[in-house]
This record gives sequence, C-alpha cells and structure tokens, in this order.
Amino acid sequence: MATAVFPAAGSSTRMGGGLNKNLLEIMGEPILIRTLKTFSRVERINFLIVVVAAHEVEMVEELLRGTEGLKPWRVTIGGSERQFSIANGLKLLPNDAEIILVHDAARPLVTVKTIDEVIDAAEKFGGAIAAVPAKDTIKIVDAQGFVKYTPPRRELVTVQTPQGFKREILLQAYEKAAAENFLGTDDASLVERLGEKIKIVMSGYDNIKITTPEDISVAETFLRSKNK
Ligand code: CTP
Ligand code: MG
Repeated sequence: MATAVFPAAGSSTRMGGGLNKNLLEIMGEPILIRTLKTFSRVERINFLIVVVAAHEVEMVEELLRGTEGLKPWRVTIGGSERQFSIANGLKLLPNDAEIILVHDAARPLVTVKTIDEVIDAAEKFGGAIAAVPAKDTIKIVDAQGFVKYTPPRRELVTVQTPQGFKREILLQAYEKAAAENFLGTDDASLVERLGEKIKIVMSGYDNIKITTPEDISVAETFLRSKNK
C-alpha cells in the first residue's frame, strides 16, 4: 500500500493575506480538501498524513472530520522548512506503507492517473516524480547576473509532486540529509544523494502549485475546462 504525506505548514508568503493558502477555496472548496479527495480516490492509498502549523492542527482536524469520503488520516505539526515538515510527517507512517508519496497540499489539480503512475514507477524503479518538459529555455547564471551557459532544453523537465519512493529509500534519504544538514528543494534531491534511480513520470501543465493570488483563477480556469 501507499501512504501520502502532504506538507501544508508553510507561511504562504507569496500568496499574502496571512492565511494558510491551502485553506483558500477553489470553486467553493478548500485547496487542501480537493487534494485529499483526489488521493482518496486512489485504490492503493491507505493513509493520508497532513502536516500543518501548530496553531492550525485543531482547525484542520475539524475540517477533515467534516469531510466525507477521505481515506484514514492524521494531522501533525510542521517545521520551519518544507523538508522538516515532511520529516515530521514521516514519523506517522503506518506499518503497511511500502510506498511513500509526498505531495504539496497546494497542488489540488493532480489527477488519479498521475498518482497511480507515480506509484507504479516507484514500485518498479524505487523512486518516481511527476514532471513536465521545460517550456522555457533555462540559463545557468552567476551571482553577478551573467549567463554562464545554456543547458539543452530537451534535457530539462520542471518537476512537480507527487514524488514517490520505496519506504526504506525515502527514510534513509531523510536520515542522511538530517545527519549532513542537507536542505533540498524537493524530495528526490535527497534520494539522489543516495545514488538511487528516479524515474520521471510525465504529468500535465495543469498540475500547478498554488503560489501567488493569480494561481487561484488559473486553477479555476483549468477546472472549468476539465468539467466541460
Ligand atoms: N510547506 C510546509 N512547511 C514549510 C514550508 C512549506 O509544509 N515549512 C508546504 C506548503 O504549505 C505548501 C508546500 O510545502 O503546501 C509547498 O511550499 P510553498 O508553495 O513554497 O508554500 P509556502 O512555503 O507556504 O509559500 P511561500 O514560499 O510563498 O511562503
Ligand atoms: Mg515556500
């Protein structure tokens, strides 16, 4: 079975407004709830671990208790960095979770198909991450703002979540990162340091992370066109 950990303990600085962006509504439903409902439709998911700020635990528990159709869940407290929030969530893994998925609560448009494909590839290869081909040309720049070089675009992907791993691999990667004070910007980068393989699973350009206020209307536009 697969257990999913949802980091939702950030400070939503780029969204502004002082509220947890994961509780903002998209077409009348909180982002976090949309995300959890989609994961709950995936057969192989057995448990959901939601990580929020300490002062939000009770409120979020209340919200989840009032939501029908969710797989079994627990809410726990996050840390000052996304990686620390996830590390805390990993303490609650059930014994029968062989595959661990990490998914930004702030990506509510993820599909059951992408989640299933990440689980399949994680089972097969040990690690798998959702991604899309880079649309823009990407430049490597120096600290003075000058271009150093241009990696070929055909070799570049923009990575998203879910990111899925065999349990032992992810736990070992988190232990190593903690021991060596390594802070990565995604989970795969911790696993890469073990020398493990990570398979790219092509998802969709609509699997956006709600980051700034315009992303709410972008997400609503995607949803409207899907429901047509
Ligand atoms: N997150 C977390 N713990 C942190 C930081 C982030 O659980 N210490 C979560 C966020 O709540 C979000 C996901 O990780 O669901 C992706 O992070 P991001 O989009 O950067 O959210 P925030 O950090 O909240 O936003 P910002 O960077 O604009 O402050
Ligand atoms: Mg952040």
